[in-house]
Amino acid sequence: MNAKRFALASLLSAAVVALFADPVAAQSTSADLIGELNIKLLYIALPITLLVEIILIYAVLRFKNNDEPKPTRENRRLEITWTVATAIILLFVGVASYGVMADPAVTFGANGEEVAPNDDDVLVQAEAYQWGWTMTYPEQNITAPAGENGPVITVPEGQDLYVGVTSEDVIHGFHVPDLGLKMDAMPSQVQYLKTTPEETGTYQGYCSEYCGLAHSQMYFTIEVVDQAEYDQWVDEQTAAQSETENGGDGAANGNTTATSNTTADGNMTAAGDETGNATA
Ligand code: CUA
Repeated sequence: MNAKRFALASLLSAAVVALFADPVAAQSTSADLIGELNIKLLYIALPITLLVEIILIYAVLRFKNNDEPKPTRENRRLEITWTVATAIILLFVGVASYGVMADPAVTFGANGEEVAPNDDDVLVQAEAYQWGWTMTYPEQNITAPAGENGPVITVPEGQDLYVGVTSEDVIHGFHVPDLGLKMDAMPSQVQYLKTTPEETGTYQGYCSEYCGLAHSQMYFTIEVVDQAEYDQWVDEQTAAQSETENGGDGAANGNTTATSNTTADGNMTAAGDETGNATA
């Protein structure tokens, strides 16, 4: 009984420790919340796993040569103990998870929050299509330029970022693992993500729903820079893109189609690959 009490006590103290666990340094508020919850649940799951495995191995070794097994007698105290312990653990998991799931940085819009209410907030519209992304800044009236791996969204560190995710055709997925962002891109529906990037750097984005031939090439990049650099970037893009618009149809097309050209190449490669495979 003492050993059981000890096990129960260590389980509960692990739960308490997990509640006050140090936050993990992460790249955004969303990634922070998800990473912290993951560690808290790990603090709970590890001792339970160890306890169950140790009891299992002990029982196998201790009773393997038992020729006359006797049925276990009822032990009310033990039954109450494990019922209460399970309830406490599930309550902890429920409360910890709800706190994270209900946060706007993980589930935005559930409580009717406003999109980009402050002047410094950044709003990006991400529209997926087969097979690429059109990323626009409706407030600044600019389109994210194409980079090596799809469009590059530049955002400032420490400001709230809102991304409206939608699709032109089939269901795609907007996914940036290192920033803790994931949202389905649904046709004729805009779903919002909110986060605050906390560390400058380059973050790779992917399409996370299988959407056809060139699904694996639907990349984009999020570039987190400091505020001054971001302001400068907005000025540059505004100047460059209004220049192109004024420069006549040809130039305007050149700029906007840059993104689709990349994807068109992607399509052709993908088609080429398939023909190659089919012939082989
Ligand atoms: Cu778009 Cu997968």
